[in-house]
Amino acid sequence: MAQVSLHNLSKSFAGNIQALQPCTLHIEDGAFVVLVGPSGCGKSTLLRLIAGLEESTSGDIFIDGARMNGVPPKSRDIAMVFQNYALYPHMSVYKNLAFGLTMRSIPKNIIDERVREAASILGISDVLDRKPAALSGGQRQRVALGRALVRNPKVFLFDEPLSNLDAKLRVQMRTEIMRLHGRLKSTMVYVTHDQTEAMTMGDRIVVMHQGKILQDDTPLTIYQQPANRFVAEFIGSPAINFFPGTLEISGSALVFKSDHFLNNIHLPESAKGAFFSSASNSALLGIRPEHLHVPTEATAEKECFVQGTIDLVEMLGPESILHLDTGKQMIRARVPSSCNYSSGSSVCFSFQVSDAFFFDGVHFNRLF
Ligand SMILES: Nc1ncnc2c1ncn2[C@@H]1O[C@H](COP(=O)(O)OP(=O)(O)OP(=O)(O)O)[C@@H](O)[C@H]1O
Ligand SMILES: [Mg+2]
Repeated sequence: MAQVSLHNLSKSFAGNIQALQPCTLHIEDGAFVVLVGPSGCGKSTLLRLIAGLEESTSGDIFIDGARMNGVPPKSRDIAMVFQNYALYPHMSVYKNLAFGLTMRSIPKNIIDERVREAASILGISDVLDRKPAALSGGQRQRVALGRALVRNPKVFLFDEPLSNLDAKLRVQMRTEIMRLHGRLKSTMVYVTHDQTEAMTMGDRIVVMHQGKILQDDTPLTIYQQPANRFVAEFIGSPAINFFPGTLEISGSALVFKSDHFLNNIHLPESAKGAFFSSASNSALLGIRPEHLHVPTEATAEKECFVQGTIDLVEMLGPESILHLDTGKQMIRARVPSSCNYSSGSSVCFSFQVSDAFFFDGVHFNRLF
């Protein structure tokens, strides 16, 4: 078990490619931290820096308080699991699992004990004599996990370990890795570009974009209090809806006006502070698909904010995703399938102002 701390860590590659901007991150002992972000945002670079497979351009890495800059990977007590399992094709599963330990001159009886224990935890005890070519994708991934497990490292690093598996197996392996974490209580850093994987697996999620850490928080906080537009849009499926507009004082009240809406949105008194400190009055309202609902008949006219025509209904079982054409843009609403909406019909949607996020219209950081 170990804490990992990164202080102003950055990485540039030749040709002026800044893969990682100076970033600071503290990973608690025993945490399961997920690094998530789109392709090219620097996730693997950050992981490889922790592992010692890349040398940082600036900044420091500490594991359990010890500075790791310049320490070779094999001396960092870290095990890494990659997307391409990197198994030795000519060796049996047993030998693949044992190999790293043999290289470290660990006694044979201890190696045997650790290999059999890891195989039992991962449910691959019956394939120890087989070669990797005679395994299913899921079994190969378990062997790759097992190779990390037998090392009993301070920190596990995973770089998209499930992306070669089909959807069902991915969900199964996801829960197995979470159980493994619950059992070992080791520090684990897990890279994915899949926001569902990030939300379901992480104690904490670190959202990255263009080499920067945008937010480091619990999954629920990331979902309920995204720091900016990018985080709000990246986390959540289907994606959040955005409406451009302006924040204005009308009488003594703060309102959000948008030509996307039929009515002005009246904001609470508590929002005024953020409004007055904002450099511009242009703003962006974000509302998640599950927070759009049909107003009751009695209040329909006053509460109807967005009107549109249903373009497409995606039935997902208990819920459906409506794709709504407002005349200005397409938006998505998540509704109970029992509502029986059909393409071509016109609907009006409302939402609770407390469910909406407001971002400044310049840097798109969340105002309130
Ligand atoms: N060895 C290298 N030399 C030059 N540029 C590199 C090198 N490795 C990575 N990069 C660049 O650094 C940036 C970050 O790459 P990185 O592999 O960390 O992204 P990632 O978030 O892991 O993406 P993906 O989800 O596609 O794996 C990219 O622009 C990439 O092209
Ligand atoms: Mg990567």
